[in-house]
Amino acid sequence: MNRWPAISDLESRSNKRLPSFAWDYLDSGTGSEQALDRNLDALARVTFRPQLLKGLMEPSTETSLFGVDYAAPIGIAPVGLGGLIWPGADTALARAAADRRIPYVLSTVGTESPEVAGPEAAGMGWFQLYPPREEATRRDLIDRAQNSGFTAMVITADVPAPSRRERQRKARIRVPPSIGPRLVLEVARHPAWANALRRHGTPRFRCLEKYVDAASMTNMAAFVGANLGGTLSWDYLAAVRDQWEGPLIVKGILDIHDAQRCVDNGADAVQVSNHGGRQLDGAIGAIDALAPIVGRVGDQVPVLFDSGIRDGLDVARAVAHGASFVFCGRAFMFGLAAIGEAGPGHAYDILHEGLVNVMHQTGCESLDQLSDRLTTKPA
Ligand SMILES: Cc1cc2nc3c(=O)[nH]c(=O)nc-3n(C[C@H](O)[C@H](O)[C@H](O)COP(=O)(O)O)c2cc1C
Repeated sequence: MNRWPAISDLESRSNKRLPSFAWDYLDSGTGSEQALDRNLDALARVTFRPQLLKGLMEPSTETSLFGVDYAAPIGIAPVGLGGLIWPGADTALARAAADRRIPYVLSTVGTESPEVAGPEAAGMGWFQLYPPREEATRRDLIDRAQNSGFTAMVITADVPAPSRRERQRKARIRVPPSIGPRLVLEVARHPAWANALRRHGTPRFRCLEKYVDAASMTNMAAFVGANLGGTLSWDYLAAVRDQWEGPLIVKGILDIHDAQRCVDNGADAVQVSNHGGRQLDGAIGAIDALAPIVGRVGDQVPVLFDSGIRDGLDVARAVAHGASFVFCGRAFMFGLAAIGEAGPGHAYDILHEGLVNVMHQTGCESLDQLSDRLTTKPA
């Protein structure tokens, strides 16, 4: 694994191994991708002042959240259509989570069903809900998550409408893929991806299939567009809160008042995120939104974080800003696309080793000491 010691190594290898439509889907942001860059730039500005001469140290990353013990405050964020990026993605991610003892979040628009992915994650699975318009669908999805062993529910708030995602439009991503000469050529040029496709079959929205009749299956993407999203309101959140018995997390929060209102409406955590720069190109860099939200609600609920994490140093930066848990979307997918099934575990090892190393280098034995080592106190 020393051939790929950094997430950036996995990223460049995935770029080579993925057909261009899959790469564009994974890598892109929205608009001119300013938010995507802003996330990385804002993280890179966070620096530490080490404290030394502490002798032998054994930093611990063990973290417990909602009564579950995890190996580190690092989790796998929901990635819809994972099977298009790498066929078989969701089971590979779920298994890596079970193996490394970290959370894995299955997307509503994932390419595996909760009934299959939940048991694979062996108690490490969380379920992400895009709010279905139909009440019956919502109730059924939540029941299925509950019955499939998912321990937490993440409701995504930051898709009030689809984003334009110009690069994805140019890549002409469709589910199921429309088979034309361009697609055939792309697949033929990427044999590892083609082999994974042969093993796992064409990616499908397996979570949602039962709500769409077979005739309209070819138009699953249209179903997703018409039936999910644009629905979330405070009343909707209350209805989900009523039904879901476990911890409820609202993902995609950037505003302190929204964060407080989530807590007032029964959320057990908020997740600061700008969807990895995929929704609003003018969005604040996610790390810049974190400390103010921790300041507002951090003494009431855990504050989780994602968007722009590319190494263990970034995890440390987010933890130092008050995140109780840090999620990554692309980093785990780069691992999977670069080296297949073993990739997500390797991506985790990179992030984890990096975090432990930063703790050593800064003189922190526990995660909560990291904030004292920041050179600039966050706003
Ligand atoms: C290809 C892709 C698909 C995604 N699909 C979903 C999704 O289905 N649901 C969701 O809540 N977030 C989704 N996200 C956002 C991630 O959960 C997460 O917020 C984001 O990837 C974090 O940024 P990072 O990729 O820089 O780590 C997706 C992100 C990517 C890159």
